[in-house]
Amino acid sequence: MEDFHSAYGPWALVTGASSGIGREFARALVDRGLDLVLAARRIDRLESLADELTRSSGVSVRPVQVDLSRPDGVQRLDEATSDLEVGLAVSNAGAIIPGSFLHPSAETQAEFVQLNATTPMQISHLFGGRMAERGRGGIVLVSSTSAFNGVPYLANYAAVKAYQLVLGEALHTEFAAKGVDLLVLAPGPTRTEMADTEGIDFAQLPMKWMSPEDVVAAALRALGRKAVVVPGATNRVMRLLTTRVMPRRASVALWGSMMRRAADDALIP
Ligand SMILES: NC(=O)c1ccc[n+]([C@@H]2O[C@H](COP(=O)([O-])OP(=O)(O)OC[C@H]3O[C@@H](n4cnc5c(N)ncnc54)[C@H](OP(=O)(O)O)[C@@H]3O)[C@@H](O)[C@H]2O)c1
Repeated sequence: MEDFHSAYGPWALVTGASSGIGREFARALVDRGLDLVLAARRIDRLESLADELTRSSGVSVRPVQVDLSRPDGVQRLDEATSDLEVGLAVSNAGAIIPGSFLHPSAETQAEFVQLNATTPMQISHLFGGRMAERGRGGIVLVSSTSAFNGVPYLANYAAVKAYQLVLGEALHTEFAAKGVDLLVLAPGPTRTEMADTEGIDFAQLPMKWMSPEDVVAAALRALGRKAVVVPGATNRVMRLLTTRVMPRRASVALWGSMMRRAADDALIP
């Protein structure tokens, strides 16, 4: 734990810490002795998590209310952390929009790109720059197994997750030269509030669920060792099948037919 703290302390930023994978990152990082900046929109959730963690472990926790689908979201993170040495940044906040690409407005799709692609890029630039100056630190970009090929009826989600995957693979090499570890975490189905997203019935999909605790444990084991981690043997087999064994167009068609079944008819006019 002392090694982890000296590599990635004293402060860690976790975006999307009000639930799911982000909340588990917060708990796991407190166990490793890091102080925390917790970011999301639901400030009440962040404050009660901050109370819980401060009381149980004595670390310092700073909750920050921010909407990361807005162009000035990362500027708010910059201001909220300007007096802190952030040694680990976990860019985790995200959402899905199931159904036809044409169903939501172009403006909604653009906000979605800001949250799931532009914001993680800006976080990598801001905190990667600060860490490179110090010659140490770590960044985790939370992508998805949806990043490996196009997914009809989850098109923009697969596209933004692919952006994070490809950006992160490259930055892993660039940042390593500066002493900064960058990891892309690509989880498969994970039991979080995202599974309750309106308009999609995940029970229709042949998926093996993981707990957020196991996903976060896999990420923290891989940080500093790998460029990309796919937690769970089933997810790794699926990745192998859909990227190496099946022709790419067949993978896209397979995902499309599964999503067509799972997405609400009203979202696929
Ligand atoms: N669950 C899965 O099956 C799965 C699989 C692969 C990848 N992932 C990825 O894992 C990450 C975490 O998702 P999760 O499964 O833990 O889902 P979750 O429980 O729904 O958590 C999503 C988090 O993102 C935050 N968030 C959403 N929109 C935001 C915004 N506009 N500004 C700031 N924060 C925002 C939410 O906080 P507020 O609502 O309070 O703002 C929440 O803390 C996401 O990037 C997701 O794409 C999830």
